[in-house]
Amino acid sequence: MSRLTQSPAWIALEAHRHEIADQSLTGLFSADPGRAARFSIECGDLFVDWSKQRVTDKTMQLLRTFAVQSDVAGWRTRMFAGDAINNTENRAALHSALRDEDAIATEDVRTVREQMRRFVESVISGDIRGARGKPFAAVVNLGIGGSDSGPRLVAHALHGLGESGLTVRFTANADAADLDYALDGLDPATTLIVVASKTFGTVETVNNARRAREWLRGTLGASAETHLAAITANRPAALDFGVATDRVFPMQDSIGGRFSVWSAVGLSAALALGWNSFERLLTGARAMDTHFRTAPLEANLPIILALLSVWNTNFLGAQSEALLPYSERLRDLVSWLQQLSMESNGKSVDRDDNPVDYTTAPIIWGGTGSTSQHSFHQLLHQGMRFVPVEFVVLADYDGDSGSHDLLVANAIAQAAALMTGSPDGQPHRRSPGNRPSTTIVLRKLTPESLGQLLALFEHRTFVNGVLWNINSFDQWGVELGKGIARRLAEGHPGELDPSSAALLRRARGESGTR
Ligand code: F6P
Repeated sequence: MSRLTQSPAWIALEAHRHEIADQSLTGLFSADPGRAARFSIECGDLFVDWSKQRVTDKTMQLLRTFAVQSDVAGWRTRMFAGDAINNTENRAALHSALRDEDAIATEDVRTVREQMRRFVESVISGDIRGARGKPFAAVVNLGIGGSDSGPRLVAHALHGLGESGLTVRFTANADAADLDYALDGLDPATTLIVVASKTFGTVETVNNARRAREWLRGTLGASAETHLAAITANRPAALDFGVATDRVFPMQDSIGGRFSVWSAVGLSAALALGWNSFERLLTGARAMDTHFRTAPLEANLPIILALLSVWNTNFLGAQSEALLPYSERLRDLVSWLQQLSMESNGKSVDRDDNPVDYTTAPIIWGGTGSTSQHSFHQLLHQGMRFVPVEFVVLADYDGDSGSHDLLVANAIAQAAALMTGSPDGQPHRRSPGNRPSTTIVLRKLTPESLGQLLALFEHRTFVNGVLWNINSFDQWGVELGKGIARRLAEGHPGELDPSSAALLRRARGESGTR
């Protein structure tokens, strides 16, 4: 048994689980008129209500004791101080420094941000133009994982709300169709290709970059390179690819890809929105940093959400968590959180390299509401799975007010129905209810509120790693598949199992595939 599951706080939570096993959420609300207010917090542009979670005051107290026992505050201090908390790579996790105006926002953070600002403003204003003297009209971001998901999410969420008129598209997949779609209808003479890759070695991105460069060369010839920019920690590889030296935007090793939207990786988002909107995004994230660093345990949103995830996962047995943003603008939020959470905490050994004997990251899934109601909500209401849900709702919206009211009504109704259920009637009509959820309300979708939301999830992920005593900042698990794929792509299959070897031949259309 690990020290963690034998620790006093863990044992107390285990005992408490049995203690409140028969309590229903509707019963808890009936017994306590002040419950909703007590289990809600307003922080900046966010309002978070976790009163529909299966917790009592005692649960929250025992969870806070677990946070203290796990030294969450000490690890928080070490992260913000730039200590090498990524112990397997001996690196810091300094994504907060990217939006920190003083403290340890080192010179290179400021230098890179100034390089970004000048470039973004010049491209948008037309001061920087393409090889044929035409202003840029479109940007295509080539990246995958954290080099795609953050800027894609931000650009789509705030599309049309900034001061840029550029068309910005994103390509991530090795599938040629992805780049073909992104380039469809664009003119090489007015298109900027941004290659985002911390390593400048991810095969999908390098392959897409080569294809995009050929697309540019087909029209621009040798001057195609003036339509390239790169965001990378591997400057020599970018220069070797043909990117001009003043178009290489550096990334620091201490910034994990899934935490990097605040870095130069956010360049395409800044081009899509304008520099002022990008700085407002940083301002929002900085506000959440301040909250995380200063709010007391009982009012600290990242810590509360992380503790609720531990309670649902490690004590109530949830195998997954569903994120339901009731907003088409936030359609990329689920995939962004999937990488952030599961690439950070999908681990099975602790910080001391010992196998863990408890569950770590839950499976993160979900989809945009209200569409998801016509897809998987049946399982959420009547299925055999215990799936805690996180709703994200926008209070104020510039679109059609009637549609917005309908959207909000559906979100609130779903959370209420999951909690109350419908215990009466014929069995096939009954929903058991007592299914927990948290609802996060954004006052309005702005760069600031989006920055606060993303930073909240970043810090929740970090705290969960501390609580599970794991390193949230490496991702060794993705290396094995990458290595096999690389050997296959280079024609050296090595010792492939018979199934994979036959499938490879068949997928390549080779004759005699049996
Ligand atoms: O998925 C593995 C990973 O290394 C991510 O952590 C990273 O965001 C992505 O691949 C892309 O890596 P790079 O930015 O080096 O191309």
